[in-house]
Amino acid sequence: MKDAIAASDGILFVSPEYNRSIPGALKNAIDWGSRPWGTNSFARKPTGIIGTSPGSIGTAVMQSSMRSVLSFLDAPQLNAPEAYIKFDPASYNEDGSVRDEGTASLLRHYMEEYSAFVQRVLAANAPGHIGDEHPDGAKLTR
Ligand SMILES: Cc1cc2nc3c(=O)[nH]c(=O)nc-3n(C[C@H](O)[C@H](O)[C@H](O)COP(=O)(O)O)c2cc1C
Repeated sequence: MKDAIAASDGILFVSPEYNRSIPGALKNAIDWGSRPWGTNSFARKPTGIIGTSPGSIGTAVMQSSMRSVLSFLDAPQLNAPEAYIKFDPASYNEDGSVRDEGTASLLRHYMEEYSAFVQRVLAANAPGHIGDEHPDGAKLTR
């Protein structure tokens, strides 16, 4: 999993909400990915969070917990737009594609903004910024 994260430009978490928090299996995966100490796979990795549940708050509390965890792990997060999706089976086709135009357009907008955010973070992470090592070993300073 750590290799897959390292090879990714960004991570988009898509999750239900369990007892107003992050489902245990997902939290466990995040915890393992953050260790051993000093090899946190999420540091500087652009992230986004989407969730859906039948409840009317559409995973808002899970997403809030997730933001706290990702902040501690130094993972930049797309702050806006947010995607709290109330799951209504009538909104989806048999193959999982979205039937309801309101939901489809919200998700399209989210993905456009997420893509732009990932590109901004990757540009900011590129070598040549303050604090980066020079090839000669010196640190770049202002
Ligand atoms: C242990 C458990 C806790 C849940 N807690 C919440 C919750 O806090 N809020 C919510 O909207 N739905 C909650 N649900 C309903 C899930 O959103 C719903 O079951 C989800 O569609 C199922 O995803 P799953 O197939 O991964 O269980 C809970 C479901 C389970 C099994």
